[in-house]
Amino acid sequence: MHTSLTREVIVDAQTIHQRVVQLGQAISRDYADGNLVVIGVLKGSFIFMADLIRAIDIPIRVDFIGVSSYGNTTVSSGEIVLKNAPSLAVRDQDVLLVEDIVDSGLTVQWLRDYFSSQEARSIKVCALIDKAERRTQSVQIDYCGFAIPKGFLVGYGLDFNEEYRHLPAIYHLLPPL
Ligand code: IMP
Ligand code: MG
Repeated sequence: MHTSLTREVIVDAQTIHQRVVQLGQAISRDYADGNLVVIGVLKGSFIFMADLIRAIDIPIRVDFIGVSSYGNTTVSSGEIVLKNAPSLAVRDQDVLLVEDIVDSGLTVQWLRDYFSSQEARSIKVCALIDKAERRTQSVQIDYCGFAIPKGFLVGYGLDFNEEYRHLPAIYHLLPPL
């Protein structure tokens, strides 16, 4: 069953685009002398990732990792499961993790541990949205698109029960969910 919950635009498509270009420029500057592997965290980052890498103008390699932390609810289960391992070896490489949203911080903490066990040379995090409301792990976000304090967000890759990912802007899904 599809849902049609009320939503309101929080960040419009043009504002997202402008911010993503700025992030790409900062990343290009910071990694000019690096061996950058940009790794998108599936599925939520796929649209952000596609736009971000096209705003990066240094040589990079691209990969994805699939993890899941949420069931079909709006609250993290707290348990991270690796669904798809990356195919590139990251040993001695500079890993940039691209996340849709950092909420509790559990996923980013798990990913940092995973890539350090793979002996990456450096690990940084680029998140489209920093949502600090439910943060339980203090995690460093090196590149942040937007700090949005609270609410359940959809669109531009973000889902609620796998819907709304295709919407071009970022929306706040209004309660009751
Ligand atoms: P964390 O492990 O609690 O930081 O959760 C990270 C993941 O939960 C994100 O990568 C999203 O997939 C999902 N998530 C957290 N908040 C939202 C939201 O507001 N909308 C959609 N997905 C969310
Ligand atoms: Mg999700």
